[in-house]
Amino acid sequence: MKALEIKNLVKQYTNGPLALKGVNLEIAQGDFFALLGANGAGKTTLINITTNLVNKTEGTVSVFGNDIDKSREEAKRVVGVVPQEFNFNIFETVLDIVCTYAGYFGVPRKEALNRAEEVLTKLELWSKKDAKSMQLSGGMKRRLMIARALMHNPKLLILDEPTAGVDVELRHGMWNYLRELNVSGTTILLTTHYLEEVEQMCRNVAIIKQGEIIKNDSVKGLLNNMESQNFLVVVNKLRDYESIREFKISTFDENTLEVQVMAGQSLSKLVTDLAKLEMEVIDLKPKNNRLEQLYLNILRS
Ligand SMILES: Nc1ncnc2c1ncn2[C@@H]1O[C@H](COP(=O)(O)OP(=O)(O)O)[C@@H](O)[C@H]1O
Ligand SMILES: [Mg+2]
Repeated sequence: MKALEIKNLVKQYTNGPLALKGVNLEIAQGDFFALLGANGAGKTTLINITTNLVNKTEGTVSVFGNDIDKSREEAKRVVGVVPQEFNFNIFETVLDIVCTYAGYFGVPRKEALNRAEEVLTKLELWSKKDAKSMQLSGGMKRRLMIARALMHNPKLLILDEPTAGVDVELRHGMWNYLRELNVSGTTILLTTHYLEEVEQMCRNVAIIKQGEIIKNDSVKGLLNNMESQNFLVVVNKLRDYESIREFKISTFDENTLEVQVMAGQSLSKLVTDLAKLEMEVIDLKPKNNRLEQLYLNILRS
């Protein structure tokens, strides 16, 4: 059984872009899957179609075997979604927010209260149950969004950029919680533009670029594409570097070299080699951020 099966998904926004250009995607039950892509790539559109918030133009989507058109209610029931933006009533209490939401899925109030205690405790929000949501910190609000999405025990949890705007410490806490959830059987799909998040948590990944999936692989497989990274190295004076064989070097501008550094190669060795040729390194930085570099490596391969 596939947790999510998307076939030839096309989305043309009225008076807007062709946001999805025939996307095919399968997520296995139990997977921890990342949809990785830059801003505007189409991640939120794909999620909003899956959760029936946006109409698709073409294609089919089914969640645990439930087609989102033919079995809309069942398809909704098996999914919990944490949207990119906070969208709860700021005057409502934490407990009311999660229990009211459970009500939409037909969970009786008494059962909802039990479930709320369980979920809010896990997400370290139980002590805040009577606080109005406006009184919560940013990290707590984010956890409240997750708690709410879990109230009806979904089999697939979808998180749209869950850690955007969340500080590093809270991010790690959230990762741990999501891992635990996954281990106890919940299939997870998250979107992100942080490669780090994918490396830390996910098993499989698809990269979406301008509405197209350009890569669909295990995270391990993907990271093989990261074996090299290009650096820009500013030196005091450019001299002949032909004798350095260990690194692939080219001239970038009048005092900058572009150097390809393979995984396992040492940057300090590069600095030493250059110093031997009387090139003093003044500055050294990655030419592209890691995600951009990854795209370049994928497009080249
Ligand atoms: N409601 C909308 N109307 C028109 N265009 C939209 C709408 N929502 C998103 N878009 C456009 O569709 C493309 C994909 O957006 P989105 O799915 O939000 O990307 P992402 O979540 O990866 O940042 C972008 O070009 C965006 O401007
Ligand atoms: Mg988005």
